[in-house]
Amino acid sequence: MSAPQLLIRTLVQVASPSGRDAPLRGDALRAIDVMRDAYVLCDGGRIAATGRMRDLGPIVGDVLEIDGHGRSAIPGLVDCHTHACFAGDRVEEFSLRAGGASYEELHARGGGILSTVRATRAAGEAGLAAALAEHLGWMLRAGTTTFEAKSGYGLDRETELAQLRAVRAAGGVPTWLGAHAVPPEFADEAGDAYLDFLLAEVLPEAAEVAEAADVFLERGAFDAEQARRYLSACRDAGLALRMHGDQFTESGAIPLSLELGARSVDHLEATGPAGVAALAASDVTGVLLPASALFLNRPMPPARALVDAGAAVALATDFNPGSAFCESLPLVCSLAATQMSIAPEEALSACTVNAAHVLDRADRKGRLVPGYDADVVLLAAEDWRHVVYHLGGPVVDTVVVGGKVAWDSRA
Ligand code: NIG
Ligand code: FE
Repeated sequence: MSAPQLLIRTLVQVASPSGRDAPLRGDALRAIDVMRDAYVLCDGGRIAATGRMRDLGPIVGDVLEIDGHGRSAIPGLVDCHTHACFAGDRVEEFSLRAGGASYEELHARGGGILSTVRATRAAGEAGLAAALAEHLGWMLRAGTTTFEAKSGYGLDRETELAQLRAVRAAGGVPTWLGAHAVPPEFADEAGDAYLDFLLAEVLPEAAEVAEAADVFLERGAFDAEQARRYLSACRDAGLALRMHGDQFTESGAIPLSLELGARSVDHLEATGPAGVAALAASDVTGVLLPASALFLNRPMPPARALVDAGAAVALATDFNPGSAFCESLPLVCSLAATQMSIAPEEALSACTVNAAHVLDRADRKGRLVPGYDADVVLLAAEDWRHVVYHLGGPVVDTVVVGGKVAWDSRA
């Protein structure tokens, strides 16, 4: 049954990225249409109309109303890079890191990603679905209405596929990150035998469930040649391509993403000027994850240089238990503004339209315009820029997904 009409009225502001293009670059990234004293009308799960209150005519049929008094509205946020489908936590490792141990050292000692692999394998399909549901509740309350989530904490056939199925069942966009780390069963073989296994035994079914493939291209994980082999096979199986690249070292991720026509290259904390120029001249979106840089006490990615050079950039949380235990896109936007010189307008476009573009959904997600999905975040502030300004604060008031209230801070 389709959703009844929903009218959100008397909003102080309705803010939405201008136009209908994607991805947005350069000046277009900071072009936000702001309507004052406005309404949003949703019908059948889509936005039917937006406009000024003074132009609102009579509405035919049943309609639920929300009074937007004192509040503003932005599009539902799109988190295009998460690892939300995991079991357990890594609070122990967090404490060790706070005391001086490095993320890469812990990984090399069989902790890090591999400790989440142990917990995720042990959780079973129901346990995994329950953990994912808890994480998605946190994300929704932070304003995320569309999410991507990767596998990569199974590293065996059964658990990788279980992760992908859980993400799809929860309404997310699944990405197959089989090449996240080499599991202990294959530890002696520098990754090549594990890749053989992934491509022969897991890819055929993963390609049925996932929309994209991803690889951790990094010192201590997979090198550029291995990433090329894995991603080429995934592309041949019909998957879009993503990449974890330049997180700690420049290891050839940007040239490879261009060569293979990847949808995105993500992280980029170590990217230098040549990488910035190459990415800016390409169709590959750079996905920036400042919560991960902050959480690991790493340099921020060169976001300002990328935007100024004309690159398409998106912002995402990287939500995961090890490098970014943070589900909040509003906090990510605050970090973008305060640590990377990204204007609030640019931040909003980067985690709506451009993030939707990375997920191949920019024709229906990321804007408040007629025909788009009725995913709306009401902010507890008259000026929409509070979503960036209120660092870690309770700025998300109500979240509407598909024209229905999915979360109400006052309920
Ligand atoms: O994007 N860098 C690789 N993968 C994740 C972290 C995964 C983990 O630590 O569990 C990331 O940072
Ligand atoms: Fe990641």
